[in-house]
Amino acid sequence: MQTATISFDRFNTLADNDAQDRIRAARARLGKRAVILGHHYQRADVFKHADLTGDSLKLSRLASQSDAEFIVFCGVHFMAEVADILSRPEQIAVLPDLAAGCSMADMASLAKVERAWRELSAVLDPNEQITPVTYINSAADLKAFCGEHGGIVCTSSNAPKILDWSFRHRPKVLFFPDQHLGRWSGHKMGIPLDEMAIWNPDLEMGGLTPGQIRKAKIILWHGFCSVHQMFQPAHIARFREQYPEGRVISHPECAFDICQASDYIGSTETIIRTVKDAEPNTRWLVGTELNLVQRLAEEVKHEGKIVQFMSSTICMCSTMQRIDPQHLAWTLENLAEGNVVNRIVVPAHEAAPARVALERMLAAS
Ligand code: 13P
Ligand code: SF4
Repeated sequence: MQTATISFDRFNTLADNDAQDRIRAARARLGKRAVILGHHYQRADVFKHADLTGDSLKLSRLASQSDAEFIVFCGVHFMAEVADILSRPEQIAVLPDLAAGCSMADMASLAKVERAWRELSAVLDPNEQITPVTYINSAADLKAFCGEHGGIVCTSSNAPKILDWSFRHRPKVLFFPDQHLGRWSGHKMGIPLDEMAIWNPDLEMGGLTPGQIRKAKIILWHGFCSVHQMFQPAHIARFREQYPEGRVISHPECAFDICQASDYIGSTETIIRTVKDAEPNTRWLVGTELNLVQRLAEEVKHEGKIVQFMSSTICMCSTMQRIDPQHLAWTLENLAEGNVVNRIVVPAHEAAPARVALERMLAAS
């Protein structure tokens, strides 16, 4: 039975404990009709309600396999879009706060990527020579662009494999929006740095000469995650001086010098697995978002493992942080009352080609 939508105003000032109780009560009413997916960066007071957790690749697989009527995504906007694209038409993807975006994803837009494609065609035939590869941290219309232009999606856990797939089809790659993931993945494949050119979308021809475009194997979009740019080589140097036996693990969205100075690089899921699988009494410096690092430190301390955050300043994913217990309680209560709020719908003309690019990725990884 459907009732009038419950306004968020009544939840805005809800005490945290009350929000927790109301989340539990609404969950009980919804039962198996709703599944809550939680990204590893999600704040603790929301993460604890997730039925399934993971990195972007794992969560997209889980979304495609779920049977629930409502997929409640505690993550950011592009993740809920992927859930909508990969789920069945009758399933409903919901993002508890529509303001939970990804600032890196916003650094590439369809208009700018189309302009780049047009400008590149003055030097070479992009449809013959360039595979467009979009990091999953991007809007659905960019995934659709890749689907329509022989391209593919990648995540932080499969980027080198996806580059390999891309080079089997065409000799060059246009990689957006994260230059750091693209550069590190290209480096892992043995591509020299001087064959990876930066495309600045605010400059004509990306700021590149025709010669630079012809030489580049990978054209890297000038995008980045500000959360991961807080880590500095000095943080690693200080740690190594104090704890020569310590190990350093970072996310590939970190700058190249951080990746080079780390012992391990991996997606959020890989970081967690690597630290959990390590021998007891080991010490770790971790270069990724603070919620993940704090949770991991708690989970492994009984084995004598010490997990430290890489930066001396706090760096959280402030947009994902917007999904708080109040928004989750509001969303679930509305769903339990029969009101769908904050539904994420990718229009069919974008969803179909975006699915092509995502399915290429799932098949290749
Ligand atoms: P993962 O796929 O490694 O979880 O990364 C997602 C993300 O947004 C990292 O900033
Ligand atoms: Fe986007 Fe950075 Fe947040 Fe990841 S940590 S979701 S890349 S803003």
